[in-house]
Order: sequence, then structure tokens, then C-alpha cells
Amino acid sequence: MTNKQQIITIDGPSGVGKSSVSRNLAAELGYVYLDTGAMYRAVALYFVRQQVAVDDEKQIAPGLTGIHLTLEPAASMEDDVGVFLNGDDVSEAIRTPELSMAASKISALPAVRSYLTAMQRTLAGKGKVIAEGRDMGTVVFPLAQHKFFLEADPRERCRRRVRQLKDKGVDVDEQEILSMILKRDNDDSTRALAPLKKAEDAYTIDTTSLSLDQVCSLILERIVNTARQG
Ligand code: DC
Repeated sequence: MTNKQQIITIDGPSGVGKSSVSRNLAAELGYVYLDTGAMYRAVALYFVRQQVAVDDEKQIAPGLTGIHLTLEPAASMEDDVGVFLNGDDVSEAIRTPELSMAASKISALPAVRSYLTAMQRTLAGKGKVIAEGRDMGTVVFPLAQHKFFLEADPRERCRRRVRQLKDKGVDVDEQEILSMILKRDNDDSTRALAPLKKAEDAYTIDTTSLSLDQVCSLILERIVNTARQG
């Protein structure tokens, strides 16, 4: 117990509710919310803007030194975290379906993973962090105090993603979004490095038919119970 980090990890595929749950829990517990997907998205955007193919590690590895990435807390519970790439506010630009695919692709590169893993550990250095992503409980914070793995039926995840994008005014085709989700699931969970995977000591919650409040309550209950036993 004593050597565990004061970190809560929330891993899982896209559309399971990781961001909303993490944001809510962070507000409830007074923790900092670390959206690591946003970091992969920002790195992908940087290279897309430079017209570098997102699987071209030869150009990407040395190019990482040109990136200055900062994250700011979301302005409200409905907003995503603020993401600044070399001073430019890219919070909206990184949320398109195309950037989701580019982020997934670039996240398979060893240079990108070690660059962002180091940054994530630095950002979480002081503890009291809710870290959300694919490899938080397995690779980045194996000593986290509480680990959760969220999953949900792909059709429901697709419905949620379509709703989110439509709310932001992005016009999308539901079938296309479903194919993208399935492709990302496959690519993210089969890559060689830090694949999307449940940590052995993570607690799984299927969010398919649960509300945001229900998922948060389950997590808080689990945290309280573990603390009592610990
Ligand atoms: O959570 P998200 O949809 O914003 O993540 C975008 C992509 O970034 C995802 O498909 C894979 C990658 N990613 C990752 O490899 N590791 C993380 N910890 C977070 C995201």
C-alpha cells in the first residue's frame, strides 16, 4: 500500500465514457484530470500539419523536439481539456474523426510512446491525478492506487460518439464512425507496445446500460471500499 501512487487510472476503448467519468471524478475528489488521448491527438496534429505521414518514425522521432505541449483544465464540465500546441489552442482541432485515426496510428510508434509516457509521469508526479487512456494501469502507472477498465458494446459506443460529434456541429455518418471505432479497437489492442489492455489488478465496469452518474458512483464505492480494506 505505502509504495502505491495516489493515482486513479481509467483505461478502455473509445466511447466507453472515460472522459466524462474522469472529469466528474476529478471534480468530485479534487484531483487533476490527465487526458492522455488528447496528448496523442496533439502530437498527431503537429505532424499532420507538417504533412509528415503519421507512421513515418524516421521523421517523427527527431521531430518530437519541436513540440511544446501544454494542457489546461476544461473551462466547464461539458468541455474537453484545453490543449495548446506550441502556443496554439488546438482543443477543437484534435477532436475530429480523422485526428482520432491519426492519433491511433502515431501512438504505435516507440519514440512517440516513450516521449508521452515520460511527460505523463512528470505531469502526475505530485499525485492526486485521474489518468485516462489505454495503458495507464498497465504501463504508465503500474503502481496506481486504484485502477479501472471501462468497456461497452461497440454500437452503444458508436451512438455516444455520433452524439458528441453532432453536438459539436461535426456532420458524421454513423456506419463510418462504427467502422472507425472497430478499426481503432483492433489497432490499439494489437499493437506491440503498450496495447489497450486491462491491467490484472483493474476493476472492470461495463457501461453499456449505465448512466454517467451510475458509473461514477460505482467507482467511488469501489475506492471507498478498497480504502477501508487497505
Ligand atoms: O482516448 P482518445 O480517443 O482521445 O485516444 C486517441 C488515440 O490515442 C487512441 O486511439 C490510441 C491513442 N492513445 C494511446 O495509445 N494511449 C493512451 N494512453 C491514450 C490514447
